[in-house]
Amino acid sequence: MRKKISTFVKCLIGLVLLNITACGTDCKDNCPEEPIFKPFAVPANFPATTVYTGEPTAKSFDLGKALFYDPMLSVDSSISCGSCHQQNAAFAHDGHDISHGVNSLVGNRNSPAIQNLAWMTTFFWDGGVGHLDLQSFAPIENPVEMAEELSHVMHKIRRSPKYPDMFKAAFPDVKDTSDITTAKMGVAFAHFMKMLVSANSRYDKYIRGEGEVLTQSELSGLQVFTQKCATCHSGDLFTDYSFRNNGRPVTSDSGRMHITLNPADKYKFKVPTLRNIEKTGPYMHNGGLSSLTAVLNFYANNVENTPNLDPILNQNGVLGIPLSETEKTDIIAFLRTLTDNDFLKDKRFAE
Ligand code: HEC
Ligand code: HEC
Repeated sequence: MRKKISTFVKCLIGLVLLNITACGTDCKDNCPEEPIFKPFAVPANFPATTVYTGEPTAKSFDLGKALFYDPMLSVDSSISCGSCHQQNAAFAHDGHDISHGVNSLVGNRNSPAIQNLAWMTTFFWDGGVGHLDLQSFAPIENPVEMAEELSHVMHKIRRSPKYPDMFKAAFPDVKDTSDITTAKMGVAFAHFMKMLVSANSRYDKYIRGEGEVLTQSELSGLQVFTQKCATCHSGDLFTDYSFRNNGRPVTSDSGRMHITLNPADKYKFKVPTLRNIEKTGPYMHNGGLSSLTAVLNFYANNVENTPNLDPILNQNGVLGIPLSETEKTDIIAFLRTLTDNDFLKDKRFAE
């Protein structure tokens, strides 16, 4: 009911004061329920964005979303971005350690959450892509993900019954199908993904002073976390976006070195955000840990002294992070306060 009233009020303000509709072009008397497009905004407890992609509009967002959920973009029309990035898992792959793409082929990395990308400086576990507008090309062409050629994707999009009009609506300089380019598709993807902002967890409401109260265990967890985890998982984005080796068992995956070819980067992976972490398991770049309890036990007992192990995890000859059982329980209680149900259920982002 409150939602209805607030939509109604927005419509009135839009119609009367601004002489535009604040709730979509068709809204006259019967204003639509959510979802309605809201412009990108920086949450009060977040830093300024670091990133570059342009401002999403309702039309570029709609186009990016349609592309994101369209299996036509894969070689056999079986897999969309949304197959491996599911909203109920904060756009990670629910329950999968590594994701399978077309023909059930598997890669070697865990599908990360997609959220708060407007603050992310590099993409993928190894930071292999440096610009959000270019990010979508990698999974489309990846042989174990969508295995499609960009030129063929363009061909399918230009011939499709719906996309030419959507591109024209999203980009004023698209006059006919030959103006539809891979670059514009990349921008549309970026505009959809930029809007995937998660900033309404209980923790956020607590930290912004919006009347949310944390339990004693959650508060103790926050305190231990700040002491023992927040050097790397820092600030309200819960990452400093650096590349670090946190002592996981080594595999053939050299991490950041795969991109830089610098041996000093061997086994370093991008520090992931911990937002919605309760929903994004299994954990780590290869999905090697299945639960948050396993993650805490790993940091407490199983950090390995491999090349380039972060010095924070090897202090005074002690490997890992000393944690009592109570501290582990409290940290997990705290981490659960980072679950943002508004984000996980936001109809604007649903297929
Ligand atoms: C087959 C499963 C699969 C499909 C399909 C897929 N992804 Fe991913 N995605 C992954 C995996 C696995 C990674 C991590 C890859 C890596 O780090 O090398 C990833 C990483 C990402 C990231 C980087 C997030 C970060 O934290 O750095 C973004 C953004 C992303 N994908 C968007 C997309 C988009 C857009 C599409 C569709 C064009 C797509 N993905 C299709 C599995 C998939
Ligand atoms: C030295 C930096 C550093 C410290 C300190 C650190 N982490 Fe991490 N954390 C990382 C890196 C790097 C990864 C990713 C490693 C990988 O994927 O192999 C990670 C991954 C994780 C993940 C998995 C996230 C995902 O999406 O898969 C969780 C959960 C986590 N850390 C929680 C914690 C907690 C809780 C603490 C404190 C007890 C902590 N971390 C301390 C660097 C750190």
